[in-house]
Amino acid sequence: MNHMVRYAGAALVAVMLAGSMSFAQSSSEALYKSKCQMCHGEKGMADSPAGKSMKVKPISDPDVKKMNETEMVEAVKSGMGKMQPYKDKLTDAQIKDVVVYFRTFLK
Ligand code: HEC
Repeated sequence: MNHMVRYAGAALVAVMLAGSMSFAQSSSEALYKSKCQMCHGEKGMADSPAGKSMKVKPISDPDVKKMNETEMVEAVKSGMGKMQPYKDKLTDAQIKDVVVYFRTFLK
């Protein structure tokens, strides 16, 4: 049953995103833009008005750079500082995807 529900969900998402060039990238990018960008900035530099007023660290900050993917996933799930926990709002898979996208800004 659970399996069926998941399948239906995945199929729905696939239909909604059909035609996009790169499936995973574009869905995590859309998620980042709608849920994270207002504080973390378009490229993770926290240069948005909300990011600046909350003093969110840019992704170039050594404290952010030293975090691995698992630690970032944890921070998003459980919240960190003024960031609310996302574990009831996003699925584990969405959180992982959006963290992977966020990490593409790391240089
Ligand atoms: C309301 C503003 C806000 C939103 C929205 C937000 N964050 Fe954050 N985020 C913060 C703050 C504040 C911290 C605490 C640490 C800091 O200052 O960078 C943080 C920390 C983090 C960290 C730990 C590394 C770091 O930058 O310190 C990650 C990873 C992260 N956020 C990812 C996300 C993702 C992914 C989303 C979208 C699902 C998101 N954030 C949404 C404000 C926000």
